[in-house]
Amino acid sequence: TAGNDVIDVRTLGAQGVFTYDPGFLATASCQSKITFIDGAKGILLHRGYPIEQLANESSYLELSYLLLHGELPSAEKLAEFEETITHHTMVHEKIATFFQGFVVDAHPMAMLCGVTGALSSFYHDDLDITDPEQRKRSAYRLVAKLPTIAAMAYKYSIGQPFVYPRNNLSYSENFLHMMFSVPAEEYKVNPVLASAMDKIFMLHADHEQNASTSTVRLAGSSGANPYACIAAGIASLWGPAHGGANEACLNMLKKIGSVDRIPEFVARAKDKSDPFRLMGFGHRVYKNFDPRAKVMRDTCHEVLEALNIKDPLLDVAMELERIALEDPYFVEKKLYPNVDFYSGIILKAIGIPTSMFTVIFAMSRTVGWISHWDEMLSEEGQKIGRPRQLYTGEAQRDYVPADKR
Ligand code: ACO
Repeated sequence: TAGNDVIDVRTLGAQGVFTYDPGFLATASCQSKITFIDGAKGILLHRGYPIEQLANESSYLELSYLLLHGELPSAEKLAEFEETITHHTMVHEKIATFFQGFVVDAHPMAMLCGVTGALSSFYHDDLDITDPEQRKRSAYRLVAKLPTIAAMAYKYSIGQPFVYPRNNLSYSENFLHMMFSVPAEEYKVNPVLASAMDKIFMLHADHEQNASTSTVRLAGSSGANPYACIAAGIASLWGPAHGGANEACLNMLKKIGSVDRIPEFVARAKDKSDPFRLMGFGHRVYKNFDPRAKVMRDTCHEVLEALNIKDPLLDVAMELERIALEDPYFVEKKLYPNVDFYSGIILKAIGIPTSMFTVIFAMSRTVGWISHWDEMLSEEGQKIGRPRQLYTGEAQRDYVPADKR
């Protein structure tokens, strides 16, 4: 634990007693060996390794191996894993026709959620969730195919032909290729952008029992297939209080528009009669700087410098950060910029449209979701998740026929 006392209340149910904790502010829903967060100190560890070291020295696929298998791979194992993932990047050709059922202006998250949920109808050979080998194969398929499906959703939404994955590119390069190549011209991948993309994937890879991961675990606890569980995670991630915050944050920066309008928006965020919140600020667990936000901030500057971009939105973001960090309201409530505050600016600089931001978060988080799903199913005596409720409705009463009401 992060220095907290733990009360194991498992036996209380049998005595007809249960805890009431809406929003799970003080309830651990499971044990896990994957990710550790100390929100007060701003620490994030994956399998014991600090996120800053992983983000600066590792790669998304190496981190994926670590999350899934528990240890960093040897060079040989990493090469084998990279080849396995590359081998699975293609999707069944029928998936291309499946897309045709969506209206062209459908949100890419709607397409990602729908197509991912349908993957079990294409891949029947790894649905025995009691078999660890099959569980791993479905995990590899999901990590490999999500970027392909995400890029297809984008291409479909802009009326361009789908671009097939290429085996000689890295995971991040391949994603950029599938997003931006057109039949007439292959996209030349800028290594600075590919590296920034890889960092974004890494910084979003896992974050213990957030809403979407808990959703995946709860869905999976009933024995549902992995593709359906990941679709459930995507649905949960979509909300603006969770993964949808990066899209909402960039839209907010655009709405603020210029540095001189920041005080007006900060005042609105503090006004309790106004539902407006500063998107990209605050976190349920971090009551300190989100360690991912620090890495993202540096990457953001690197990308803008490499591309020689002067983005007025970045000026707004930097000034908003400065003002909020000094404002007593934000200081008192420990509201710091979170990972989504900077990721949107980087994605915008790379040329990724706002509607794809949450899709990229979902792709990155898939490995975290599926690692938790696999960990849960590996446990002895794994139980279906079944929270209780505090009933606040009517006491028992007798039915009255309609003509007597
Ligand atoms: N702007 C203004 N006030 C805020 C903000 C914000 N962004 N976030 C929290 N507050 C205030 C709340 O109004 C509340 O004030 P009160 O105590 O006077 O009622 C207090 O801070 C605590 O907020 P809660 O909503 O109770 O905190 P909770 O832990 O439930 O919510 C959350 C965390 C959802 C992230 C919240 O901070 C928020 O809505 N932030 C903006 C959306 C966002 O950036 N989400 C991304 C999260 S990170 C991620 O998913 C990768």
